[in-house]
Amino acid sequence: MSKGHKKLETNISLMAVFIIIAVSLGGLVEILPLIFLDQVRTPTEGVKPYPALQLAGRDVYVREGCYNCHSQMIRPFRSETERYGPYSVAGESVYDRPFQWGSKRTGPDLARVGGRYSDEWHYIHLNNPRDVVPESNMPGYGWLADNPVDGQLVQKKLRALQTLGDPYSDEDIAAAPAAVEGKTEMDAVIAYLQGLGLARSGR
Ligand code: HEC
Repeated sequence: MSKGHKKLETNISLMAVFIIIAVSLGGLVEILPLIFLDQVRTPTEGVKPYPALQLAGRDVYVREGCYNCHSQMIRPFRSETERYGPYSVAGESVYDRPFQWGSKRTGPDLARVGGRYSDEWHYIHLNNPRDVVPESNMPGYGWLADNPVDGQLVQKKLRALQTLGDPYSDEDIAAAPAAVEGKTEMDAVIAYLQGLGLARSGR
Protein backbone atom coordinates (compact mmCIF):
# COMPACT_ATOMS: atom_id res chain seq x y z
CA MET A 1 0.00 0.00 0.00
CA SER A 2 1.41 3.40 -0.92
CA LYS A 3 2.00 5.95 1.80
CA GLY A 4 -0.73 8.28 0.56
CA HIS A 5 -3.26 5.48 0.41
CA LYS A 6 -2.41 4.32 3.93
CA LYS A 7 -2.88 7.84 5.27
CA LEU A 8 -6.26 8.09 3.56
CA GLU A 9 -7.48 4.74 4.83
CA THR A 10 -6.45 5.34 8.42
CA ASN A 11 -7.67 8.93 8.73
CA ILE A 12 -11.47 9.06 8.94
CA SER A 13 -11.70 12.87 8.48
CA LEU A 14 -9.60 12.79 5.34
CA MET A 15 -11.61 9.81 4.11
CA ALA A 16 -14.85 11.70 4.76
CA VAL A 17 -13.64 14.63 2.65
CA PHE A 18 -12.84 12.34 -0.27
CA ILE A 19 -16.14 10.50 0.08
CA ILE A 20 -17.98 13.82 -0.10
CA ILE A 21 -16.03 14.80 -3.22
CA ALA A 22 -16.76 11.45 -4.89
CA VAL A 23 -20.48 11.52 -4.04
CA SER A 24 -20.82 15.16 -5.14
CA LEU A 25 -19.23 14.45 -8.50
CA GLY A 26 -21.52 11.48 -9.02
CA GLY A 27 -24.53 13.59 -8.05
CA LEU A 28 -23.59 16.46 -10.35
CA VAL A 29 -23.17 14.15 -13.31
CA GLU A 30 -26.73 12.90 -12.77
CA ILE A 31 -28.42 16.15 -11.81
CA LEU A 32 -26.80 18.87 -13.92
CA PRO A 33 -27.81 17.60 -17.37
CA LEU A 34 -31.44 17.44 -16.18
CA ILE A 35 -31.33 21.10 -15.13
CA PHE A 36 -30.11 22.23 -18.53
CA LEU A 37 -31.81 19.74 -20.84
CA ASP A 38 -34.73 21.50 -22.56
CA GLN A 39 -36.52 18.23 -23.18
CA VAL A 40 -37.20 17.69 -19.48
CA ARG A 41 -38.09 21.30 -18.66
CA THR A 42 -40.42 22.15 -21.52
CA PRO A 43 -44.01 21.03 -21.07
CA THR A 44 -45.23 18.65 -23.77
CA GLU A 45 -47.79 20.30 -26.02
CA GLY A 46 -51.13 20.50 -24.24
CA VAL A 47 -49.67 19.96 -20.76
CA LYS A 48 -50.79 22.75 -18.41
CA PRO A 49 -50.39 23.39 -14.67
CA TYR A 50 -53.07 21.61 -12.64
CA PRO A 51 -56.30 23.59 -12.17
CA ALA A 52 -57.12 24.24 -8.47
CA LEU A 53 -59.42 21.24 -7.96
CA GLN A 54 -57.05 18.81 -9.69
CA LEU A 55 -54.13 20.14 -7.67
CA ALA A 56 -56.07 19.49 -4.46
CA GLY A 57 -56.82 15.99 -5.76
CA ARG A 58 -53.18 15.37 -6.56
CA ASP A 59 -52.28 16.14 -2.95
CA VAL A 60 -54.93 13.68 -1.74
CA TYR A 61 -53.43 11.09 -4.09
CA VAL A 62 -49.98 11.67 -2.61
CA ARG A 63 -51.26 11.80 0.99
CA GLU A 64 -53.16 8.51 0.64
CA GLY A 65 -50.14 6.82 -0.89
CA CYS A 66 -51.88 5.74 -4.10
CA TYR A 67 -48.38 5.63 -5.64
CA ASN A 68 -47.63 2.60 -3.46
CA CYS A 69 -49.75 0.54 -5.83
CA HIS A 70 -49.98 2.69 -8.96
CA SER A 71 -47.24 3.95 -11.26
CA GLN A 72 -47.74 6.86 -13.64
CA MET A 73 -45.15 6.04 -16.23
CA ILE A 74 -45.85 4.01 -19.32
CA ARG A 75 -42.64 2.47 -20.58
CA PRO A 76 -41.85 2.34 -24.31
CA PHE A 77 -42.69 -1.36 -24.70
CA ARG A 78 -45.38 -2.71 -26.93
CA SER A 79 -47.02 -4.62 -24.09
CA GLU A 80 -47.42 -1.33 -22.22
CA THR A 81 -48.38 1.00 -25.04
CA GLU A 82 -51.05 -1.43 -26.25
CA ARG A 83 -52.56 -1.62 -22.79
CA TYR A 84 -52.20 1.95 -21.56
CA GLY A 85 -51.61 4.22 -24.57
CA PRO A 86 -48.64 6.30 -25.77
CA TYR A 87 -45.53 5.92 -23.58
CA SER A 88 -44.77 8.70 -21.09
CA VAL A 89 -42.31 11.50 -21.87
CA ALA A 90 -40.50 13.79 -19.42
CA GLY A 91 -42.33 16.92 -20.59
CA GLU A 92 -45.60 15.53 -19.23
CA SER A 93 -44.32 15.72 -15.66
CA VAL A 94 -42.91 19.25 -15.53
CA TYR A 95 -45.74 20.42 -13.25
CA ASP A 96 -45.55 17.37 -10.99
CA ARG A 97 -43.82 18.14 -7.73
CA PRO A 98 -42.90 15.47 -6.86
CA PHE A 99 -43.43 13.31 -9.96
CA GLN A 100 -45.53 10.17 -9.51
CA TRP A 101 -43.72 7.85 -11.93
CA GLY A 102 -43.20 5.01 -9.46
CA SER A 103 -42.28 1.43 -10.18
CA LYS A 104 -44.75 -0.52 -8.05
CA ARG A 105 -47.75 -1.84 -9.93
CA THR A 106 -50.11 -3.69 -7.67
CA GLY A 107 -52.79 -1.90 -9.68
CA PRO A 108 -52.62 -0.66 -13.28
CA ASP A 109 -50.57 2.32 -14.42
CA LEU A 110 -52.67 5.49 -14.17
CA ALA A 111 -50.68 7.81 -16.46
CA ARG A 112 -53.49 7.83 -19.06
CA VAL A 113 -56.52 6.91 -17.01
CA GLY A 114 -58.15 10.33 -17.67
CA GLY A 115 -61.43 9.92 -19.55
CA ARG A 116 -61.30 6.12 -19.49
CA TYR A 117 -64.20 5.87 -17.01
CA SER A 118 -67.06 8.16 -16.02
CA ASP A 119 -66.97 10.22 -12.84
CA GLU A 120 -69.73 7.95 -11.47
CA TRP A 121 -67.58 4.88 -12.03
CA HIS A 122 -64.77 6.51 -10.05
CA TYR A 123 -67.12 7.41 -7.18
CA ILE A 124 -68.31 3.83 -6.87
CA HIS A 125 -64.82 2.42 -7.37
CA LEU A 126 -63.10 4.69 -4.84
CA ASN A 127 -65.84 4.09 -2.30
CA ASN A 128 -65.58 0.31 -2.60
CA PRO A 129 -63.55 -1.06 -5.55
CA ARG A 130 -65.26 -4.49 -5.29
CA ASP A 131 -68.58 -2.99 -6.34
CA VAL A 132 -67.24 -2.64 -9.88
CA VAL A 133 -64.22 -4.98 -9.96
CA PRO A 134 -65.10 -8.00 -7.76
CA GLU A 135 -61.55 -9.39 -7.67
CA SER A 136 -59.97 -6.04 -6.69
CA ASN A 137 -57.71 -5.82 -3.66
CA MET A 138 -57.61 -2.02 -3.68
CA PRO A 139 -58.75 -0.46 -0.40
CA GLY A 140 -61.89 1.72 -0.29
CA TYR A 141 -61.56 5.47 0.31
CA GLY A 142 -65.16 6.33 1.15
CA TRP A 143 -64.29 8.93 3.78
CA LEU A 144 -62.83 11.22 1.12
CA ALA A 145 -66.44 12.14 0.30
CA ASP A 146 -66.83 13.58 3.82
CA ASN A 147 -63.75 15.81 3.72
CA PRO A 148 -64.25 19.29 2.26
CA VAL A 149 -61.42 20.82 0.20
CA ASP A 150 -59.85 23.81 1.95
CA GLY A 151 -60.02 26.68 -0.55
CA GLN A 152 -57.59 28.94 1.30
CA LEU A 153 -55.00 26.18 1.40
CA VAL A 154 -55.35 25.47 -2.32
CA GLN A 155 -54.88 29.17 -3.00
CA LYS A 156 -51.65 29.18 -1.00
CA LYS A 157 -50.41 26.16 -2.93
CA LEU A 158 -51.09 27.85 -6.28
CA ARG A 159 -49.22 30.92 -5.08
CA ALA A 160 -46.24 28.83 -3.97
CA LEU A 161 -46.15 27.06 -7.34
CA GLN A 162 -46.35 30.42 -9.12
CA THR A 163 -43.29 31.53 -7.13
CA LEU A 164 -41.52 28.40 -8.35
CA GLY A 165 -42.26 29.41 -11.93
CA ASP A 166 -45.44 27.50 -12.81
CA PRO A 167 -47.43 29.75 -15.18
CA TYR A 168 -50.46 30.41 -12.96
CA SER A 169 -51.97 33.86 -13.52
CA ASP A 170 -53.01 36.09 -10.62
CA GLU A 171 -56.60 35.52 -11.77
CA ASP A 172 -56.15 31.75 -11.45
CA ILE A 173 -54.99 32.26 -7.89
CA ALA A 174 -57.77 34.69 -7.03
CA ALA A 175 -60.36 32.25 -8.42
CA ALA A 176 -58.98 29.16 -6.63
CA PRO A 177 -61.19 29.18 -3.50
CA ALA A 178 -64.34 29.59 -5.63
CA ALA A 179 -63.19 26.77 -7.93
CA VAL A 180 -63.13 24.27 -5.06
CA GLU A 181 -66.10 25.69 -3.12
CA GLY A 182 -68.39 22.92 -1.89
CA LYS A 183 -66.12 20.19 -3.32
CA THR A 184 -64.97 17.18 -1.35
CA GLU A 185 -61.61 15.42 -1.47
CA MET A 186 -63.42 12.68 -3.41
CA ASP A 187 -64.43 15.20 -6.11
CA ALA A 188 -60.86 16.50 -6.14
CA VAL A 189 -59.14 13.16 -6.57
CA ILE A 190 -61.60 12.20 -9.33
CA ALA A 191 -60.95 15.51 -11.13
CA TYR A 192 -57.25 14.74 -10.87
CA LEU A 193 -57.65 11.20 -12.23
CA GLN A 194 -59.85 12.45 -15.09
CA GLY A 195 -57.12 14.88 -16.16
CA LEU A 196 -54.30 12.36 -16.18
CA GLY A 197 -52.50 11.91 -19.47
CA LEU A 198 -55.07 13.64 -21.66
CA ALA A 199 -52.45 15.67 -23.51
CA ARG A 200 -50.96 12.64 -25.22
CA SER A 201 -53.62 9.96 -25.02
CA GLY A 202 -55.71 11.61 -27.71
CA ARG A 203 -58.88 11.42 -25.58
C1 HEC B 1 -53.13 -1.82 -2.14
C2 HEC B 1 -52.94 -1.34 -3.50
C3 HEC B 1 -53.74 -0.16 -4.00
C4 HEC B 1 -53.82 1.11 -3.48
C5 HEC B 1 -53.19 1.65 -2.21
C6 HEC B 1 -54.62 1.87 -4.42
N1 HEC B 1 -54.99 1.09 -5.46
FE1 HEC B 1 -56.05 1.70 -7.07
N2 HEC B 1 -56.05 -0.21 -7.81
C7 HEC B 1 -55.43 -1.29 -7.21
C8 HEC B 1 -55.73 -2.48 -7.98
C9 HEC B 1 -55.25 -3.90 -7.66
C10 HEC B 1 -56.53 -2.10 -9.07
C11 HEC B 1 -57.13 -3.00 -10.17
C12 HEC B 1 -58.50 -3.51 -9.74
C13 HEC B 1 -59.51 -2.41 -9.65
O1 HEC B 1 -59.84 -1.78 -10.68
O2 HEC B 1 -59.98 -2.10 -8.53
C14 HEC B 1 -56.70 -0.66 -8.94
C15 HEC B 1 -57.41 0.13 -9.84
C16 HEC B 1 -57.49 1.52 -9.79
C17 HEC B 1 -58.09 2.34 -10.80
C18 HEC B 1 -58.66 1.85 -12.13
C19 HEC B 1 -57.54 1.82 -13.15
C20 HEC B 1 -57.89 1.20 -14.47
O3 HEC B 1 -57.23 1.54 -15.46
O4 HEC B 1 -58.79 0.36 -14.52
C21 HEC B 1 -58.00 3.64 -10.38
C22 HEC B 1 -58.49 4.87 -11.11
C23 HEC B 1 -57.36 3.62 -9.08
N3 HEC B 1 -57.06 2.31 -8.76
C24 HEC B 1 -57.12 4.74 -8.31
C25 HEC B 1 -56.53 4.70 -7.04
C26 HEC B 1 -56.42 5.86 -6.19
C27 HEC B 1 -56.84 7.27 -6.55
C28 HEC B 1 -55.81 5.42 -5.04
C29 HEC B 1 -55.49 6.24 -3.79
C30 HEC B 1 -56.58 7.00 -3.22
C31 HEC B 1 -55.55 4.00 -5.19
N4 HEC B 1 -56.02 3.60 -6.41
C32 HEC B 1 -54.93 3.21 -4.24
C33 HEC B 1 -54.65 -1.25 -6.08
C34 HEC B 1 -54.48 -0.15 -5.25
